[in-house]
Amino acid sequence: MAISLRLAYLVFETRKPARWDRFMREMLGLPAPAVHPDGSTGWRVDGACQRLVVVPGTRDDLLALGLECGDAAQLQQLLERLRAAGHRPLQADAALCRQRGVRALWSLHDPAQGLVELCWGLEQAATPFASAAFPDGFETGALGLGHVVLVSHDLPAMEAFYGELLGFGVTERLDTRVGPVHMRGTFLHCNRRHHSLALFDLPASQRIHHFMLQARATRDVGRAFERAEALGVPLALELGQHPDPDGTFSFYGDTPSGFAFEIGAQTREIDPAQWRTMHTQQTSAWGHRPRLRLKLRMAGELLKARLRRTRRQPARGAAL
Ligand SMILES: [Fe+2]
Repeated sequence: MAISLRLAYLVFETRKPARWDRFMREMLGLPAPAVHPDGSTGWRVDGACQRLVVVPGTRDDLLALGLECGDAAQLQQLLERLRAAGHRPLQADAALCRQRGVRALWSLHDPAQGLVELCWGLEQAATPFASAAFPDGFETGALGLGHVVLVSHDLPAMEAFYGELLGFGVTERLDTRVGPVHMRGTFLHCNRRHHSLALFDLPASQRIHHFMLQARATRDVGRAFERAEALGVPLALELGQHPDPDGTFSFYGDTPSGFAFEIGAQTREIDPAQWRTMHTQQTSAWGHRPRLRLKLRMAGELLKARLRRTRRQPARGAAL
């Protein structure tokens, strides 16, 4: 039996819940969230009860990514594969399932110690999704929620986990330079979406690089870009388009937690059954010009990474 997977939800931990609340309402134009007993908020982007969850905490990063299996039997099959490989997934209690809005939930860690939640039965809301900012809504359904890009300093280990164990296929491999930064990346698919998950090896201290929401209407991407400028939301990359076969027209800005969000449209689908891994050195066909703020942050992260490396190396002559 084939296991169908899709990105179900993302859980963010933040020290700035009030700023996230404003960001979700004003920048992303999402309707009022469900508020859970622990103070976390669940935000809708489609017919599901929630897709983006914001948890007040002590750091600013991705707390968990949720992957949804087609049904309970597929989830069991996936769990058996993981156990056979030595993993010990933990079953969530009823309270956590309610909080995540799923029928069943098991969690485990990826090789970068990121929390992965495997679930099925994403709860649907009683009312249709409606947003004045995105009147045509977002592309989700069988493709799942947009995509998430994780920072990974051990691409082979992460690819083995998400690819060989969870069943993602490699859509494209990226090897390029962005200014002074050498960047390698792997784009992974688990359905017809070009990538639901990508792994970037680049200097960064957070686990997540960015998440992307795919608008159905190109107009809504342009309006979101104008809204970001009007609201003073820091932009990272201006409007541009990823090269084929992805083709996404998008821009990137900063969330209140520092990692980026991407709003895009026109993403092309792939046929996973026929797909052969492609290699690219190009991140954009046009546009996506980096703002000064992003260049400064990249330079800062590069410097921090070099300092970390220097501290790990013993001083010359110290071992004599
Ligand atoms: Fe992206």
